[in-house]
Amino acid sequence: MESLNTILLHPDRRIGADMERWRKAGGGQALARAAVDPAAVREAIREADLRGLGGSGFPVWRKWDAVAAESPKPDKYLVVNGNEDEPGTYKDRLLLEETPHQVIEGALVAALATGANRVVFYVNPDLALSLAALKTAIELWQASELLDLASTALGRPLELTLLPGSGHYIGGEETAAMEWIEGRFPFPRGKPPYPAQVGVHGCPTLINNVETLAQVSHIVAHGAEWFRSLGKAPGTGTKLYSLSGDVLYPAVYELPMGTTLRELIFVHGGGLLSGKPLKAVFTGGPSCTLLAPVDLDVALDFDSLRARGGSLGTGAMIVISEGTGIVKRVAEYMRFFAHSSCGQCMSCKTGTATMSLLLDRIDTGRGTAADLATLENLCAMLPGTGRCHLITGVVQLLDSSFRHFKHEYRQALR
Ligand SMILES: Cc1cc2nc3c(=O)[nH]c(=O)nc-3n(C[C@H](O)[C@H](O)[C@H](O)COP(=O)(O)O)c2cc1C
Repeated sequence: MESLNTILLHPDRRIGADMERWRKAGGGQALARAAVDPAAVREAIREADLRGLGGSGFPVWRKWDAVAAESPKPDKYLVVNGNEDEPGTYKDRLLLEETPHQVIEGALVAALATGANRVVFYVNPDLALSLAALKTAIELWQASELLDLASTALGRPLELTLLPGSGHYIGGEETAAMEWIEGRFPFPRGKPPYPAQVGVHGCPTLINNVETLAQVSHIVAHGAEWFRSLGKAPGTGTKLYSLSGDVLYPAVYELPMGTTLRELIFVHGGGLLSGKPLKAVFTGGPSCTLLAPVDLDVALDFDSLRARGGSLGTGAMIVISEGTGIVKRVAEYMRFFAHSSCGQCMSCKTGTATMSLLLDRIDTGRGTAADLATLENLCAMLPGTGRCHLITGVVQLLDSSFRHFKHEYRQALR
């Protein structure tokens, strides 16, 4: 049995694109099982309570069952989402660079479990090392009998394609990714119809994050019970947390899902680099929420954070210390989101631009009480008004900064 807290980042697997070494370490076993009984794979994923690790925490089995229930039209797609552009998030690139075969195996297991015959690896174009490792690894798979085994089990040829994304943050949204794959600018589509029914080129499409798929082969190889036991209930399995900001050891940590913020920062991260007291943590990337020192003992899993009005998102944790202005940081992130909005939805286009303008005004001492009131009104009005989740996530950030640090906004007013 492998070391408990490093399923994905186990040293045996951090070997780049070396396929022989990966197979010697047990690679390929899960695919062989999936080839025999794809329905049992879906059941194992359900029992394991694997969640979407791209940010939503959506139960993976639900999407898989929905895609499996559709007939090919004439194809079925699986998109491996490696767009990873959320500030502070750098886990998928690590998996792709250092252990691309387990991502490919997980994707092929998912393809067999759902009947997908076209697998598209969709990767942020700025991640040159990830792209290079994945390209080599895909070529090795294309020459390997493992791919033939999977194609035979599926009953048709499995096609693997590597596609660099557009370089846009919004391109990571699942329907935007599909637009790009079809050759258009990555504007998110309205839902429904959902990708499971009408996805790439009108075909049923499953889209999962790189980390989600990397977990799959381990669940299939070792069982759902084993996977559940790795997490701290209600969390199951492990999670890659990208720790950055004012910490001694910024890194990607693979830890039990549900590890506390305190353990992550002070045990693994070595505490604060500046030696100052902790002030706040942007959790899940800035499009999620801000936690304060009172939240240090909260478990970092989807359900525990949601119960606290927070969000795990991608598992990015950006630590800031006393002395850092919250208004300035939130204003900086808002500028990023205003720039990233695709502009299709008026509420997102004007909402992010207006919030950015007002935050900059407050941050530079020119804001008024009316500006703050407008921001509060926008927080109440905007959630759920966009085609995609962008505007809702952005409001979560602002709203949670109000929850803990409203006094800083008031102090900054003219
Ligand atoms: C603005 C925006 C950007 C996103 N970027 C990414 C991304 O870079 N990678 C990713 O896996 N999911 C991203 N998502 C989430 C995807 O829409 C989708 O939920 C995810 O790829 C599904 O995979 P999962 O269920 O395995 O998490 C983004 C969502 C939004 C709204």
